[in-house]
Amino acid sequence: MLASGRSERRHRHRDEEEVAEGSLPTVTVADAAVLLAQGEVVAFPTETVYGLGADARSPLAIRQVFALKGRPTDHPLILHLGEQMPLDDWALTNDAARALGAAFWPGPLSLVLPRTSAVLDEVTGGLETVCIRRPAHPIAQQLLSAFGHALVAPSANRFGRVSATEAAHVRAELGEDVAVVDGGPATVGIESTIVDVTGPRPAILRPGAVSRRQIEAIVGPLGSSTVRVSGTLDRHYAPRTGLVVSADPDAEAERRKAQGQRVAILRALPGASYARALYAELRRLDGLGVDVLIAERSADPDLGEAINDRLARAERGSGRAGEEPTG
Ligand code: TXA
Ligand code: MG
Repeated sequence: MLASGRSERRHRHRDEEEVAEGSLPTVTVADAAVLLAQGEVVAFPTETVYGLGADARSPLAIRQVFALKGRPTDHPLILHLGEQMPLDDWALTNDAARALGAAFWPGPLSLVLPRTSAVLDEVTGGLETVCIRRPAHPIAQQLLSAFGHALVAPSANRFGRVSATEAAHVRAELGEDVAVVDGGPATVGIESTIVDVTGPRPAILRPGAVSRRQIEAIVGPLGSSTVRVSGTLDRHYAPRTGLVVSADPDAEAERRKAQGQRVAILRALPGASYARALYAELRRLDGLGVDVLIAERSADPDLGEAINDRLARAERGSGRAGEEPTG
């Protein structure tokens, strides 16, 4: 089944190239639902970044996700639910989770909760908790509803690398054999905020598109969590060119140029625009062949925390082509 799905896609690829040269081989939502039902993985758009989706009930399909990403199997995956799929099936819920879900779902928020027995060990890496998101992107919702079951979906990039915000980026990361539903560029552009709601006070595990301020407005002051997740690896989101983060990129550029280095600058934009452009720009600048990328820190009161978090990890992981990221 797997092999025939792949050869069909290659065939489709050739046909489409004849029709529109340069266009990407993508699949419809209906095709994608069939492939998922056959145990294959499919990349699809969410409003944050593209996800690499697989049937959350299928250990084999989930194993393929880890293999394609080159991701260690003890790094847990986010379970994605459609609007009609009850949270209670997967997690033991509580007041904080209900309040945050009511405020931000569907949307760029993921909640860590105690899991039910329906959640496979392959999803959580053996943890007793599960991370759950209800995405808002219409194509993600159509896919969940056409498939009819929960999907696991990590970001559709190789482990430790820059996340994909366009279908072409998924291809560049994961190759030709992965079917992609093309939803155009992601509108948010950085990953969901992950909030641990298992403790006495909710705690942010990964800053993201929903800001600390927005979350505190719903549940009050946040606590801290000692849970360590792959999105909080010191090196992550990394371009292959060396990257430095600076509050004054022009001064940094002058210094570097004086040393004979070729530089490219990623300038800050207003928060939402910077988040939306961040990964595509890192990819583009990474392809220029310069010696160093200089990224301007964000001063945005809301999205700045998440943008600067990604930049700091990209800085630490950058310039290490061929090496695996470490914690
Ligand atoms: O915006 C997003 O969240 C995207 C889109 C595709 O939904 N997904 C995404 O998935 O960023 P991924 O796998 O790249 O990052 C998921 C993060 C990882 O850092 C993982 O360790 C953490 O979620 N995570 C998953 N389950 C967890 C759990 N039970 N406890 C703590 N962290 C967990
Ligand atoms: Mg990721």
